[in-house]
Amino acid sequence: MPVIAFANPKGGAGKTTSALLLATELASKGAQVTVIDADPERWISQWGKLPGKPETVTIISDVSEDTVVDLIEAAELTAQFVIVDLEGTASLMVSNAIGMADLVVIPIQGSSMDARGGAKTIKLIRNQEKMSRRKITHAVVLTRTSAAITSRALKNVSQQLQAGGIDIFKTAIVERAAFRDLFDYGGTLSTLDPALTSNLDKAMQNAREFSGEIIARLKAAVAAKAAA
Ligand SMILES: Nc1ncnc2c1ncn2[C@@H]1O[C@H](COP(=O)(O)OP(=O)(O)O)[C@@H](O)[C@H]1O
Ligand SMILES: [Mg+2]
Repeated sequence: MPVIAFANPKGGAGKTTSALLLATELASKGAQVTVIDADPERWISQWGKLPGKPETVTIISDVSEDTVVDLIEAAELTAQFVIVDLEGTASLMVSNAIGMADLVVIPIQGSSMDARGGAKTIKLIRNQEKMSRRKITHAVVLTRTSAAITSRALKNVSQQLQAGGIDIFKTAIVERAAFRDLFDYGGTLSTLDPALTSNLDKAMQNAREFSGEIIARLKAAVAAKAAA
């Protein structure tokens, strides 16, 4: 089943946050999700130890550059979605995981627009495409954008990336307390208390739209593969 890897050698780009949002969103819809936690910070593994983790989420925590390929392959056999949260460096582990991915999501902080990490990731993907002689679907998601940011500013950024031939998610992941609270309190967005976490409804809508776009890209990738 599809493998979705989150990659950007830049730390703090929002890889772990967007990976957990996708995992919890898919799991709360009933999908069996395996997260390969290849981030040395192990945030998702720690989240998994808090109460409220859906039964449908399995977390694999012990991952190295030698084992990542086999672990992804094994997870594909049992899970409906395999999500790989990668470390914030360009390493053999990252290349290996990208080589196994059906979709690579490249989070880039919208506020700082530090696209350098993103460019590095795209170069890695292009190398893996050459080595494996197949296309690897990839797209940029802008993260930590301000809820107040003008849609015009985001449009400009999107246009710049698109001019470079880079696919970009229409949904940006907004800076939200809810996305931080998940890591502190565990569970999913729907188990957080709306009285204690501000704008929870908006955060939930944001996560839904993001995962909807992921599904659409996976479907397109499958269709393209079938047509090839
Ligand atoms: N959309 C967001 N809203 C609020 N905080 C965020 C958001 N995205 C990331 N953060 C915070 O920014 C920091 C880095 O994010 P993280 O997802 O761990 O990035 P990475 O995995 O790329 O290093 C964390 O403290 C995280 O809680
Ligand atoms: Mg991380």
